[in-house]
Amino acid sequence: MGGPGYFVTFEGPEGAGKSTQVTRLAERLTEHGFEVLSTREPGGTMVGEMIRRILLDGPDLSGWTEALLFTAARAQLVQDVIRPQLEAGLVVLCDRYRDSTLAYQGYGRGVDLATLIRLQAEATGGLLPALTFLLDLPVEEGLSRIPKGALDRLDREGEGFHRRVREGYLEMARQDPGRWVVVNAAVSAEGLAEVIVTATRERLQRAGVRPRERRSA
Ligand code: TYD
Repeated sequence: MGGPGYFVTFEGPEGAGKSTQVTRLAERLTEHGFEVLSTREPGGTMVGEMIRRILLDGPDLSGWTEALLFTAARAQLVQDVIRPQLEAGLVVLCDRYRDSTLAYQGYGRGVDLATLIRLQAEATGGLLPALTFLLDLPVEEGLSRIPKGALDRLDREGEGFHRRVREGYLEMARQDPGRWVVVNAAVSAEGLAEVIVTATRERLQRAGVRPRERRSA
């Protein structure tokens, strides 16, 4: 599970407010003396941002093409950013990670799950998050929160697709309750942040991850 740092990921549908929550949690943990790095998928490295443009604004792609491109971006992010920062002892927060590929390309598009799981293990060197928040939201509500002009290629998929993605996430959370924390994303951003900060601090304490010594000036 990586070095002495702590790896937290955020998953969920479009419009659940993941990026806001990543920012809030980073601020709160920093206030408590933790060293934190936040990143996002797809992206977070130069090649990752280039791949992101193909994936979100490019032509229609097959399920396997999507799965391999998302995973390629992830392999670089793990090597260049996530693993080194965990080894340096940081708390790393990532907006989406391997579970997005399982939910969207696996459950959503029907790419074989067992193969995808093996692919993730190879591409990430087996790095799994210690803690994953699922920001769960009814499909219609998530989609209605995204401004029309801001819909990307995947957001524009039909409702059936988004329903399979949600069910896939809930299924993964049921299978691994030690890693997943399912939170209701239909509440206010403030309320959600409190739940997420409390759960994370509890887990950090249990895992023995402590804030850095504060140096007096
Ligand atoms: P992004 O703009 O990051 O949106 P969001 O705010 O919803 O996270 O777009 C990421 C899109 O890519 C989103 O629709 C989910 C999808 N995705 C996959 O299909 N598979 C993946 O492995 C990842 C990381 C994302």
